[in-house]
Amino acid sequence: MKYTRLGPTDLNVSRICFGCWQLSPSFWGEVPVGPWAESVRAALDLGVNFIDTADAYGDGHAETELGKLLKQDGTRDQFILATKFYWNFADGPRHPNTTHDYILRACEASLQRLQTDRIDLYQIHAWDAITRPHEVARAFATLKQQGKVRWFGVSNLNPEQMDLYRKHFEVSCLQPPYSLLDRNIEARELPYCLTHNIGVINYSPLYRGLLGGHYNADSIITGNRANGPLFHGEGLRHILTAIDQAKAIAAELNLSMAELAMRWTLTNPAITSAIAGVRKPEHIKGVVKAADAVLPQRTWHQLANLFAKAKSDALAAAK
Ligand SMILES: NC(=O)c1ccc[n+]([C@@H]2O[C@H](COP(=O)([O-])OP(=O)(O)OC[C@H]3O[C@@H](n4cnc5c(N)ncnc54)[C@H](OP(=O)(O)O)[C@@H]3O)[C@@H](O)[C@H]2O)c1
Repeated sequence: MKYTRLGPTDLNVSRICFGCWQLSPSFWGEVPVGPWAESVRAALDLGVNFIDTADAYGDGHAETELGKLLKQDGTRDQFILATKFYWNFADGPRHPNTTHDYILRACEASLQRLQTDRIDLYQIHAWDAITRPHEVARAFATLKQQGKVRWFGVSNLNPEQMDLYRKHFEVSCLQPPYSLLDRNIEARELPYCLTHNIGVINYSPLYRGLLGGHYNADSIITGNRANGPLFHGEGLRHILTAIDQAKAIAAELNLSMAELAMRWTLTNPAITSAIAGVRKPEHIKGVVKAADAVLPQRTWHQLANLFAKAKSDALAAAK
C-alpha cells in the first residue's frame, strides 16, 4: 500500500480508503455485518489505514457497527477515522442541520457510537444554505479545543462554498464523487483544491459498482442503482461495450477492471485517496492493487476518451 499526506494535515493516509456507506440499508439493502467486519480486518491486513463513514449511513448503524468492531479488535488506533454530520435523523423526519448546538450534539453522538474519544477527520456532508459559516466555525473551534476532532473537511461542495467556509475555518479535505463516468470536478473543484492545498478523497470511484467489471449483457442491476440511466437498458449496453475494451487495457497492465478504474482516479495528482465501497472481503482485496502505481499518461487519456464517448452515447440512448 502507498501512503500520502492528506492536504495540510499531519495524517498519512493510505491511497485507498475503506468506505462504510454499504451499511446503509435504505440504499444498499440489508448487508450482513459478518462479512463486512471481515472486510475491515482484511483492509487493515492489506495496509489500508483510512476509514470513511457518516452518522447518516443507516442512521447511526454504520458508526455503531464500526465502533463495536474497532473496540472488539482493539484496532481503533491503527485507523485514521473520518466521519460526517449534516443530516439530523434523531429528531423527526431527516433534515440538514449545521447549527452550532446541533454540531456539538452530533459529534458527541458519533463519538459514542464509534466508541472513541476523537474523530480524525470530521466532514460536513453537504452544503447547508441557511446556516452562517461563522456558526459552524464556532462549533469546530470548541471541538478542536476539546480534542474531540483533529481536522475538518467538507463533502459535495463547490469552490464558492469552500471559499465561504475557508474565511472562517481551515478546510483540510474535500470529498466529491469522481470516476471514469463522473468527471465534473476536473474543471473547478480539483484545480481549487490543488491551489489551496486541500486533500481530495473521491467517492464512488467505481461509479457505485458499474465499473467493477462484473456486469455483462445478461445482468439486471436491481435496487436504487437501477434508477440511474447508465444502469439499465441501452445506457448500460453502451457502458458494457466500453468496459469490454477497457478490460483489454487492464489485462495488458495485469490489472482487473476494478483495479484499472480505481487506478485511473488515483493517477490524477489532485486525488489523495480513493474511497472504495465495500460489502465483503473480496471487494477490498479486489481494489488495493490499484494504489501500487499510476497509469501511463497515454492510457489515462485513452480511458478518459473511451468512457466520455460511452457515457454520452448511453445518455443519448436513454433519452
Ligand atoms: N460524501 C458523500 O456524499 C458520499 C456518497 C457516496 C459514497 N460516499 C463514500 O464513498 C464510499 C464509496 O462510494 P461507493 O460505495 O459509491 O463506491 P464504489 O466503490 O464506486 O462502489 C461500491 C460498489 O462497487 C462494487 N465493488 C466493490 N468492490 C469491487 C470489486 N473489487 N470488484 C467489482 N465490484 C466491486 C460493489 O457493488 P456490487 O458488487 O453490488 O456491484 C460495491 O458495493 C462509500 O462507502 C462512502 O464511504 C460518500
